[in-house]
Amino acid sequence: MQTTINGARLFYTDQGDPQAPPVIFIHGFPFSHAMWSSQLEYLSHNFRTIALDLRGHGQSDVGDGQYTIEGHVDDLMGLLDHLQIDRTAIVGLSMGGYITLRAVERHPDRFGAIVLCDTRSEADDNAGKIKRAETAASVKVHGADVFARGFLPVVFAPDSFQKCPVAVETVRQLICGTPPLSLAGNLIAMAGRTDTSGSLGKIKAPTLILVGEHDNLTPVSAAQALQNGIPGAQLQVVPHAGHLSNLENPAAFNELLGTFLGQNQEL
Ligand code: MLT
Repeated sequence: MQTTINGARLFYTDQGDPQAPPVIFIHGFPFSHAMWSSQLEYLSHNFRTIALDLRGHGQSDVGDGQYTIEGHVDDLMGLLDHLQIDRTAIVGLSMGGYITLRAVERHPDRFGAIVLCDTRSEADDNAGKIKRAETAASVKVHGADVFARGFLPVVFAPDSFQKCPVAVETVRQLICGTPPLSLAGNLIAMAGRTDTSGSLGKIKAPTLILVGEHDNLTPVSAAQALQNGIPGAQLQVVPHAGHLSNLENPAAFNELLGTFLGQNQEL
């Protein structure tokens, strides 16, 4: 499905019984709603699932290539308003987690349960911002294929290349299908994101934190910092997985997600 939000055509899926408790999924960089296919299928009998292609990703408009996390939150809230969903569970992975944390900070009453996957609340430090600027410059010269070659070993655990080659290939194609303008724009958006650590203590919604045991990008220590900050948050380490824990160990991920949402569903 597609709708125009804040001047851009955004693609999303909306599956399951419209009367069932809603769950919205926010993908990481630079992927699309397609990264959630196993989770959408797993939850399809008990939930209404919505999965958005963020601006510049998947089948959504690239627009002018200038993005911010604030703008992605505006798009998310615009989609929820369009769908007339006042309150929902939300699942965000990595950049999707940055967007989730900022959305919860801005609109705490709209989210009844929160799942933060392979993400962190801290903003980039200076070294991180400089690295993003270098990558953004490089991707515009060398393109998405070269970026994908360097990025895949960062996000997948070494074993995953043998254990789940289909997931690796899916992600490679998602990256290679993302225009360099969008890659660069979203790198700059992440570099400019705010630090949401200071407001973790105000989160009242039940929260589950999931992290791949071999996640080197947003490691277990970042997940522990989230757990320490969010009152009552649960933390589960997904075994045999790197940064893309939902793709690298979908069986374990889905069971943890389904159990948590089942216990914390709201209509
Ligand atoms: C992601 O997986 O969304 C990004 O790689 C996160 C990041 O680069 O900070």
